Amino acid sequence: MNLESLYRQVIMEHYKYPKNKGLVNDDSYQTVHLNNPSCGDDINVQIKIVDGKIIDIKHDGHGCSICCSSASVMSQTLMGKTVEEAEKIINNFLTMLKGEEFDEEIEMMDARVYQGVAQFPARIKCASLSWKAIEKGINESK
Ligand code: FES
Repeated sequence: MNLESLYRQVIMEHYKYPKNKGLVNDDSYQTVHLNNPSCGDDINVQIKIVDGKIIDIKHDGHGCSICCSSASVMSQTLMGKTVEEAEKIINNFLTMLKGEEFDEEIEMMDARVYQGVAQFPARIKCASLSWKAIEKGINESK
């Protein structure tokens, strides 16, 4: 199996069996709603931060396979991280999506599978939507 089909398989697994999907009705979570203006798809992300650490992330919404799988990957990658660690990972991920040089040393787990998205500018917004939402959630909870 080549790397590209492995990556595609990881994306489809997260799309079919998303992690941390479904919102909670709890005021201790910061909720952010964002949409992708180019297609109308939208997503809600919730984040709970206690003592500078992300203790829970939830997401829900509709979007393409890249967008929904990326929300699942984002929740899995950032769960349990400190705000500082999460900010570094988010920045690194968004840099990678733009096709720019990113820090290979930063542990991004399954998020690495979106590296190829940089070649498809129209899909960058799909892959980055939930990550932009969580970034906003972190900033709003400061
Ligand atoms: Fe709408 Fe990907 S096509 S988020």
